[in-house]
Amino acid sequence: MADLADIADVGRDARRGGYSRHGFDRVELELRAWFTEEATRRGLDVHPDRNGNLWAWWGGPGPDAVVTGSHLDSVPGGGAFDGPLGVVSALQAVDVLRAKGFRPSRPLAVVVFVEEEGGRFGVACLGSRLMTGAIPPEAACALTDPDGVSFGEAAHRAGFDPLRMGRDDAALASVGRFVELHVEQGRGLTVPVGLASSILAHGRWRFTFTGEGNHAGATLIEDRRDPMLPASRLVLAARRAATGGARATVGRLVPNPGGTNVIASSVDVWLDARAADDHRTREVVALITEEARAAAAEEGCEVRVTEESYGDTVHFDRGLAAELSSVLGDVPALPTGAGHDAGILAAHVPTAMLFVRNPTGISHAPEEFAEADDCAAGVAALATTLEHLAR
Ligand code: GLV
Ligand code: MN
Ligand code: MN
Ligand code: MN
Repeated sequence: MADLADIADVGRDARRGGYSRHGFDRVELELRAWFTEEATRRGLDVHPDRNGNLWAWWGGPGPDAVVTGSHLDSVPGGGAFDGPLGVVSALQAVDVLRAKGFRPSRPLAVVVFVEEEGGRFGVACLGSRLMTGAIPPEAACALTDPDGVSFGEAAHRAGFDPLRMGRDDAALASVGRFVELHVEQGRGLTVPVGLASSILAHGRWRFTFTGEGNHAGATLIEDRRDPMLPASRLVLAARRAATGGARATVGRLVPNPGGTNVIASSVDVWLDARAADDHRTREVVALITEEARAAAAEEGCEVRVTEESYGDTVHFDRGLAAELSSVLGDVPALPTGAGHDAGILAAHVPTAMLFVRNPTGISHAPEEFAEADDCAAGVAALATTLEHLAR
C-alpha cells in the first residue's frame, strides 16, 4: 500500500476521476522512471526491450527465467490497482525473498509492459503483442491516439526506434515461466487470493456510420440521414445479443463533428465483445453487425466495420496452476472476462495469474479497490510462487 501511495498522485484525472495513465504519455513515463528507481534501489538491473517494455533483472537476463510483472498504464479514468498492483507486488515479493536470504538458482525478472489497456492507441497489450509477434510492428506503429499522434511517433519520442520494434525472440527465449499478479475484476473471488484458469475470447470492433451533416433546426425529420440513429440501435443490439454469459459493450461513441445543434455527418462506435469461445464471440458480433447494417440502411446511412483487435480464449497452463495450487495451499481457480499481458504470453511460455480479491467487483473505474490485508496476502503468495519456481 505504501508503494501504491508513492504513485498515488501521478496521473490523477481531475475531470473523469481516478487515473488516466497511457502508454508513453508524460504520466506513464514518470511512472516508468519511478519503477526504474525502485528496482535499481533493490539491486535489480533495469533495461527496456526494443518494444518499450521495461525489465528489471535479478540475475540474467534469462535463460529460463521466472518472470513476473504487469503494467502501469490505465484505462481513461481507471482505478489505482489494475496494473500497478502487479508491479508493486512484484517489487515487494523481491523484498520478501531478499529479506529471507533467498538465492535464486535461475534468473528472476520484473517486467512492466507498455500500453496494456489500449487506452491511448486502441489496441490492448501492445507491448506484449509486439514482443510475441502477435501484432506486426508496422500495424502497431501506425495506430494513432485521439490527437493523431502515432504509436511509432510516441515510442520514438520516448527513446525507442520504431524500426527495431517487433517480435523479440531473445526476450521471449529468456522467459521460462511468467506469472502476473492482478486485482480480480469481478465478484468471482471470495477468498484473498486465487488463480486464473482462463480468459474469455475478446476483441474490439469499430463501426463507422456515415450519413449527412446538417442543421438540427432547419432539416425536416424526413430529410435526414442521421448516423446517430443506427449508432444507437447498435448499442441496444449489443445488449440484446450478449446472452448466456457473453458480454458486449459500447463504452465509446464519437459523433463527428459533435455539436448540439448539428446532425452528425458520421459517428464512430467501438464495440467490445467477449464470450466463452471464438464461435460464440463471433456469433454475438455477427448479430450486432447485422442489426447495425439494417439500421444504417433504414436511415440511408453507410456503415464500415473494422476488427481492431481480437484474441481467442486463453487457457492458462494447467500444470503450472496445479503446481502453484499445491504450494499456495489449494487456492481457487477462476475464469476472467478481462484481458491481460499474461494472456498474450500464455501462447509462448507456461503462464499463470494470481488474483487478489476485489470486494466490490468494480474495476476500470475510480472505485476499484482491494483491501490492504488481501494485497499483503497477494505479495506473500507471489513471493512463495517465485521462490518455488526459481529455487
Ligand atoms: C483490459 O483490462 C481489458 O480486459 O479490456
Ligand atoms: Mn484493465
Ligand atoms: Mn490490467
Ligand atoms: Mn487488462
